[in-house]
Amino acid sequence: MAQINPSILSADFARLADEAKAVDGADWLHVDVMDNHFVPNLTLGVPVVDALAKATDTPLDCHLMIEEPDRWAPQYVEAGAGSVTFHAEAAAAPVRLAREIRAKGARASMALKPATPVEPYEDLLPELDMLLVMTVEPGFGGQAFLDIMLPKIRRTRQLIEKHGLQLWLQVDGGVSASTIERCAEAGADVFVAGSAVYGAENPAAAVEALRAQAEE
Ligand code: DX5
Ligand code: ZN
Repeated sequence: MAQINPSILSADFARLADEAKAVDGADWLHVDVMDNHFVPNLTLGVPVVDALAKATDTPLDCHLMIEEPDRWAPQYVEAGAGSVTFHAEAAAAPVRLAREIRAKGARASMALKPATPVEPYEDLLPELDMLLVMTVEPGFGGQAFLDIMLPKIRRTRQLIEKHGLQLWLQVDGGVSASTIERCAEAGADVFVAGSAVYGAENPAAAVEALRAQAEE
């Protein structure tokens, strides 16, 4: 079953609790943490995640676009995140970090920027609950979907099947009514959507429409 994770990056930051409620039927709420070093943008940190976790029943999927995730990721679990994604390019010790996130009780996930191949991480996949294949360069919402990432999604799905893993395959960036079917067909099963959900007249209806399209 397809999971749709609205990204609050495209929501109204002054009304985060209401914006979380506006997508009640979503599987997870995607929270983009940016530090102005790993990516050229700055968003929010541990205190906001802590407050948001208390304000909504929807589990939080925290995407850390930050340097030193080895140091910070555990704090997001403590703040109430149900899933924590660190970037492969930033992690000093991805296996140790994934184990620590799991030991603290959250799902461990690793993200790959568009130019980072999945193959070097094949042996690490059993340590993860989710792999995120970025379909834009991380840093901003509302960018155009990178079609050139479809082969990587396909190769990742093949690796998951080859090893018989349960791991979820997430895509993030430019996912919308016009791109979600291609992502699903390539093998993604968790879809982050920012502007396609919060830019819609009715965000909850947009979530359901995307889910229906992904499951076609
Ligand atoms: C981009 C973020 C995404 C972003 C997606 O770096 O990781 O989660 O919010 O926004 P859309 O769906 O508008 O591309
Ligand atoms: Zn994201």
